[in-house]
Amino acid sequence: MAEPVDLARMTAELHALRDETLAAARAATDTAALEAMELEVLGKKGRLTAVLRGIGGLPAEDRPKVGAIANEVRIAVEGALAAAAQTLGSKELDARLAAERVDVTTPGRPIRRGSLHPINETIGAIAEVFAQFGFVVYEGPEVEDDTTNFRMLNIPPDHPARDLWDTLYVDLPEHLLRTHTSPGQIRVMHQERPPIRALLPGRCFRYEAVDASHASEFFQVEGLMVDEGTTMADLKGLLDQFAHAMFGADRATRFRPGYYPFTEPSVAFDILCVICDGAKCPACSRTGWMTILGAGMVHPVVLGYGGIDPERYQGFAFGMGVERIANLRHAVPDLRLYLENDQRFLGAFR
Ligand code: PHE
Repeated sequence: MAEPVDLARMTAELHALRDETLAAARAATDTAALEAMELEVLGKKGRLTAVLRGIGGLPAEDRPKVGAIANEVRIAVEGALAAAAQTLGSKELDARLAAERVDVTTPGRPIRRGSLHPINETIGAIAEVFAQFGFVVYEGPEVEDDTTNFRMLNIPPDHPARDLWDTLYVDLPEHLLRTHTSPGQIRVMHQERPPIRALLPGRCFRYEAVDASHASEFFQVEGLMVDEGTTMADLKGLLDQFAHAMFGADRATRFRPGYYPFTEPSVAFDILCVICDGAKCPACSRTGWMTILGAGMVHPVVLGYGGIDPERYQGFAFGMGVERIANLRHAVPDLRLYLENDQRFLGAFR
């Protein structure tokens, strides 16, 4: 048999439920626990409802009193849960904000920046100097025909001058890998009328045994000027200006006689060794000088092959080795480094 209910006992039970719930609400550590508590105490099948189930056993005059107390308990519990929810909620928000805070002082992730290949960078620097004298960049093909690479440059078949260029032939009659950028002179003359100021950078190929100073592929920059009244003095002045722009205004230069079938007269152009300053070190083969290019006045026969009247126009041409110049600019001791695609080497030029 159920225990008899009376007003005092029910009141005590309701107050006990209230006090217990208030204490639990204060002790709760997260809002999820508060939500569970609300269901457990105030829910339809909750503990408050359970206590009130006994109300029918009370005398009629006590029932409203118990109802009033139950209301007070409900209000107290609701208030306590709401207050605790507010405190815990703002604590949880603070914790989340702290955890997700963006630290604007953290160093950024580095962006890996690429860089130009030192040969391209050097070609750019060369072109920049000649652009100031009105030279425009052109390009010719790497697979060239024998006529343009040799014959129109005044080098007939079986002529001993061919020995100056150890040639790589391709599987196509009368074609080869260009041995120099000079065939570009012919192509520009066929394409343009004087005055011509052309710069022709490009990859060249020779059948060479590879070592620190020889490669079977390398770059040249060709220059061609054709106009009325063009002289050797113009060529010398221009090349001096170029050397001084590239290697410093006080770098000594010299012209030596040279030989090329397509220029007459021909010269070799030297700068005082940038390593030893004329003291004759191994880098300059103990001459004190470094040859950076070949040049000369365009042979009248070559002008004629180019479709230009040699009675009216004169021209000069020059051809420089880009690796040579890059070596001197960046103190690179071995040509092969330019071809190896080693990131440690390439990344050093930024
Ligand atoms: N083509 C020559 C070489 O490869 C260089 C050169 C170019 C010389 C233009 C004179 C004029 O050696």
